[in-house]
Amino acid sequence: MSPLLEVEHLRVQLPVGGELRSVIRDVDLTLEPGEVLAMVGESGSGKSMTARAIMGLLPPGAEVGGRIAFDGADLSAASSRQLRELRLRRIGMIFQDPRAAINPVHRIGDFLTEVLVRELGVPRSDAMKRAEGVLQEVRIRDPEHCLHQYPHELSGGMLQRVMIAAVLLSEPDLILADEPTTALDVTTQAEVIALLSDLRRARELAMVFITHDLELAAAISDRIAVMYAGSVVETVAAAEALTRPLHPYTEALLESRPDIAVRLDVIPQISGRPIAAYEVDAGCPFHPRCRYAEEQCSLTPPKTALVGTGLVMCHRAQERLGGLHISGEQNSLADGLGAQAG
Ligand SMILES: Nc1ncnc2c1ncn2[C@@H]1O[C@H](COP(=O)(O)OP(=O)(O)O)[C@@H](O)[C@H]1O
Ligand SMILES: [Mg+2]
Repeated sequence: MSPLLEVEHLRVQLPVGGELRSVIRDVDLTLEPGEVLAMVGESGSGKSMTARAIMGLLPPGAEVGGRIAFDGADLSAASSRQLRELRLRRIGMIFQDPRAAINPVHRIGDFLTEVLVRELGVPRSDAMKRAEGVLQEVRIRDPEHCLHQYPHELSGGMLQRVMIAAVLLSEPDLILADEPTTALDVTTQAEVIALLSDLRRARELAMVFITHDLELAAAISDRIAVMYAGSVVETVAAAEALTRPLHPYTEALLESRPDIAVRLDVIPQISGRPIAAYEVDAGCPFHPRCRYAEEQCSLTPPKTALVGTGLVMCHRAQERLGGLHISGEQNSLADGLGAQAG
């Protein structure tokens, strides 16, 4: 089976104050049909820009390098019309804030049927039937009533379901979900995650799920790509990321989970500030914040290599893999406390 999505050596630079700034540095990703890949990282690490590059929706003036292929076709060579067609029919996107993505003066039914009627030539009554069907699929209790409602009459969670329904209408092969539950309360968040998981199975959808929450990422995905300063620093099976993180940044993300904070009665944070991709100089981008850093880490950029079952961009990953076999979790927790006290 060939991958549904292949991203190779993706580089993105954006114009800022008359110069080009690097925001994505040499990102590689693959996604099989029906697979869910989560992209995790702190704010500013380049998750959204990666998704926007895949959709062909980068800000004006962006310089893009590398290759993005969808279902075997090279998107870097696609015309804007072909990209538009792809967004209409094969790749859907869900954003953090559904209210920003919907026209407040249109009823839900008009919003859902607009593309079908205008772009795809579906008769209006058929489009309404299909809209009602997808509202049912996203578990809206009274779909017929919902079609006549305005966005302001719906809660954030309901509106996010409507956005998911809108994406389903185009029967995509791939959904890019950019922090789709970040703006929702915890209960609603869990419901939307459960819905996405069920839909993914029922429709055999592939999904790129973007979040800053590693635990949430592991719950919904098959594989996780951890991003730092515009690079993917670790790509690994979801379960491995939680039990045996190999990149020190993944480990630090894991330790800053709130449930561990409750148990330890402190709120662990990753010390130091995240750097932007354009600030990366020699060496590993994470070295200034890394408790495992040694001299070479500040001098030479690490290459991404297969370590255990994952791809890791760290000079010390192989060595850490050895150490983690013995008493990984206890060691890293103790180190976390040490770092807090220090
Ligand atoms: N329109 C823009 N012009 C220039 N830089 C931008 C623009 N949008 C985002 N950036 C920068 O690109 C980097 C990656 O941003 P983004 O992909 O949105 O991060 P994330 O989604 O991981 O929080 C950040 O450093 C951000 O400041
Ligand atoms: Mg983002």
